[in-house]
Amino acid sequence: MPGDTLLQAFATPIFLRKNAGTPEMNRKLADTIRKMSADNTSDDAHRAHQGGFYTKGDFFDNDTLPGVAEARQMVGKAVIDYIRQVTGRKDLPSHIQIISWAALTHANDYQTPHVHAGSTLSGVYYAVAPPRPEPQGCIDFLTPLDLKEMTFLKGDSNTYCRVVPEPGDLVLFPSYLKHYTHPFYDEHERTVVVFNAHISRD
Ligand SMILES: [Fe+2]
Repeated sequence: MPGDTLLQAFATPIFLRKNAGTPEMNRKLADTIRKMSADNTSDDAHRAHQGGFYTKGDFFDNDTLPGVAEARQMVGKAVIDYIRQVTGRKDLPSHIQIISWAALTHANDYQTPHVHAGSTLSGVYYAVAPPRPEPQGCIDFLTPLDLKEMTFLKGDSNTYCRVVPEPGDLVLFPSYLKHYTHPFYDEHERTVVVFNAHISRD
C-alpha cells in the first residue's frame, strides 16, 4: 500500500485573525493615535517608513489612554494562540515580552522592505484600513527562501504573500520575514498598532 506524507518543512507561519478587535475599540484607538500625532513629533529613527506618524515603542505603557489596554490584551492573547498553533505545545515559553508602537499614515506614506531585527514574532493590528484597490494599503511578505523562488515549480512559487487588510485584522509573522507596505494613492487614513514579541524558553 502506498502511503503519502507531505512534510511542509521550512514553512513560514503567517497568522491572520479577523475581527480581533471591536469597532468601538478601533474608534478609540483612532482617536487616541490621532491626538498623539497632533501633540508629538514622529519617532523616525532607524525605521523603514517614509512619511506618516509613528509613536515611540512604549505605546502599550499608555494604558490610561482610550483603547490601549484592550489592544494590549488582544495582542497578548493572539501571540499566545500563535505560539500554541505553531509549536503544537500547550506549555508556553517562560519569557514573552511585547513592545508596541502605533502609526497613522496618509496618502503616499509607505514602508520599504525590512525585518524586525532582534525580535521573535511581530505583528500589526489594523484599527483603520479603508477599502482601496490593490495594492494600496496592502502589506506584502517576501519569501525568505531565495532558492525556492529561483528554481522550484516556476510559475507556481510566489515571490510574495499579500495581505489585504480590513479593520479588525490582526496579522502575526516571524520577525525575520521581510515585508513592506504600499501607500494610498489618494488621501485616506490608516491607523495601525504594531508590535514585537521577544520570546524564549529559559
Ligand atoms: Fe514592519
